[in-house]
Amino acid sequence: MAELGASVIGLGMMGLRHGRVWAELPDTRLAAVYDIVPERAQEMAAEYGCIAAGSLEEAIEAPGVDMVSVCTDDQSHVEACTAAAEAGKHVLVEKPLATSVTDCDAIIQATEENGTRLMVGHVVRFDPRYQVAKNMIDEGAVGDIVHIYGRRNNIVPSGRRIGPRTSVAYFLGVHDLDIMRWYVGCEAVRVYAESCRKVLIEEGADDTIFALLKYENDAVGCLETCWVIPEGQPNTLDARIEVVGTKGRVAVRAGDNEPLEVSGPERSARPDVAYGPVIGGKQGGALKYQLEHFAACISNDEEFLISPEDAKAAVALAAAIHEALDTGVPVSLAD
Ligand SMILES: NC(=O)c1ccc[n+]([C@@H]2O[C@H](COP(=O)([O-])OP(=O)(O)OC[C@H]3O[C@@H](n4cnc5c(N)ncnc54)[C@H](O)[C@@H]3O)[C@@H](O)[C@H]2O)c1
Repeated sequence: MAELGASVIGLGMMGLRHGRVWAELPDTRLAAVYDIVPERAQEMAAEYGCIAAGSLEEAIEAPGVDMVSVCTDDQSHVEACTAAAEAGKHVLVEKPLATSVTDCDAIIQATEENGTRLMVGHVVRFDPRYQVAKNMIDEGAVGDIVHIYGRRNNIVPSGRRIGPRTSVAYFLGVHDLDIMRWYVGCEAVRVYAESCRKVLIEEGADDTIFALLKYENDAVGCLETCWVIPEGQPNTLDARIEVVGTKGRVAVRAGDNEPLEVSGPERSARPDVAYGPVIGGKQGGALKYQLEHFAACISNDEEFLISPEDAKAAVALAAAIHEALDTGVPVSLAD
């Protein structure tokens, strides 16, 4: 496989991880990095020996860049993704693809017109637990799905950090909106939602959103997503999915039952072992699988595990949840 060069845009929590994986994988290299805070790019470039770009354009057009990881805030994905596509680069963008269907369409159109590939980092699809559950559903373990429940709850520093910039539906819920749709295998026809705001008042964000979905095949879906769980909880993430069907049940519990527990004098912790464990000094886990998959599909001209239309559908569901919250009535998605 020819070596692919990557540029990473947005060097916060996720951008640092993307950059590290591109630098560590055997068939990719980190060519350039860019952040609106110049010191972040300079620091990372010094660590990995890559270019610290001074602008988005410079990062995309730096020598040896074949693909661009977009890891900026949710609402600014559209600018970096369209610029990368227009420069002929393949795009891996963190979830959600965007925060409106219009922006999703603009990104998809830019990649189609310029003949570049687009994948959205719905990393939960690369979590072996969720993938094995999908395999079992496809093999008929649950029969015809009756209901599906998805939960994604984070501790409150997450809501305080991200709340002012996006919503819990786009930041957390979009993962499960995608997984639920992937498992059920058809579209939602109706969405209703309720929210509560008591903790993140200064941040101007909902603490929690519950949504009820009705799917084309008559199955019922329930999404619970929250980012104000007290910090005392030993795991930063509590994520679950449960699928009940005419023949059986499949359930995944992630976070709250991590098999590793570390206790100190004040608080026990259950560190993540699925998404980003460091193994032999290198980043392993689902994020690595996702980036490896992206690069391999480009090199081998293979389909991605998630299509741009799948990612757009998850955004459309999050947008419908917000419409239901704004109007107080169920939103019909049927044609
Ligand atoms: N897959 C996952 O599990 C997962 C987890 C967390 C976040 N995310 C997603 O990753 C993205 C980044 O989240 P994060 O937690 O790393 O955020 P973050 O706040 O830690 O980092 C964002 C970085 O982008 C930079 N930035 C903002 N706008 C920019 C622009 N226009 N051009 C260049 N740089 C810009 C900021 O300065 C900051 O360094 C978001 O879309 C988020 O939803 C995904």
